[in-house]
Amino acid sequence: DWTMAAYRDEAIAKIRAQVGDKKVICGLSGGVDSSVAAVLIHEAIGDQLTCVFVDTGMMRLDEAEQVVTLFRDHYNIPLVAADESDLFLGELAGVTDPELKRKTIGRLFIDVFDKHAAEAGGADFLAQGTLYPDVIESVSFSGGPSVTIKSHHNVGGLPEHMKMQLVEPLRELFKDEVRALGRELGLPESFIGRHPFPGPGLAIRCPGEVTRAKLDTLRKADAIYLDQIRKHGLYDEIWQAFAVLLPVQTVGVMGDGRTYESVLALRAVTSVDGMTADYYPFPHEFLGETATRIIGEVKGVNRVVYDVTSKPPGTIEWE
Ligand code: XMP
Repeated sequence: DWTMAAYRDEAIAKIRAQVGDKKVICGLSGGVDSSVAAVLIHEAIGDQLTCVFVDTGMMRLDEAEQVVTLFRDHYNIPLVAADESDLFLGELAGVTDPELKRKTIGRLFIDVFDKHAAEAGGADFLAQGTLYPDVIESVSFSGGPSVTIKSHHNVGGLPEHMKMQLVEPLRELFKDEVRALGRELGLPESFIGRHPFPGPGLAIRCPGEVTRAKLDTLRKADAIYLDQIRKHGLYDEIWQAFAVLLPVQTVGVMGDGRTYESVLALRAVTSVDGMTADYYPFPHEFLGETATRIIGEVKGVNRVVYDVTSKPPGTIEWE
């Protein structure tokens, strides 16, 4: 792609000009944006870059391992990977308000990131995979009132004490452009085609209090749902698909017994940039087969529902 090849060269030159011979720290989230930012910056400045991956405990099944394998083993990028799930879960105990969840995770994330960045020797610059829609949706709707719809913890700058300058090479790009750039940089298709994943992770897909048990249940169900989508060849037609574990229990029947377990909602949308979205019209057979698999394979779920709300008026995430 000519445009992206040119963009890549331009972005690399800009990064070199901004950073010089100084050190850069980049937080990896497991998503496309931070992955593309990291590989681009590594191309520009090599081992002046150190990546930090914080496992918040809010990641999807096997995601932490995949990040380590790709960046440390495949790209040979210096990487600090830290399991901080106990800390995050501890601080989230009793927190049910969606905005408070985001703020708690955002605050902890900065603290923990700061700690690991310092242990890695510190840096003068902080790299972020901020995209154009993140920038505008956090500030205002164009033409509308200046309101924050949901606080995105990866936007908004840094606390004063961190005193690092930001390197944000994707700030002018939309998601499809970031993917094109990732392909240009040779990132594996499994990372590039990956659906977007929110900073606060599975915490905002567990309405109500977040616990390790709920997250484990959600992870299993979510993995089966995505497996079904891949098996049916639908993954690339969908912008984002995920499961939400509801804080609602319903009565069911299994064998001779009555069950009283959680409801799981499935969400899948098509979108161009995440700003508006339509629910994905799965065939009924797909939904039926997926519900049967989830209820049969995941302990703690006895009912599955499908979300048919578009954005607006709904948002893509439930919180
Ligand atoms: P909503 O739910 O606002 O989501 O329709 C739009 C897109 O943004 C993602 N999202 C986030 N991404 N930090 C992120 O990096 C966040 O706090 C956050 N909240 C939502 C969401 O997954 C969707 O792709």
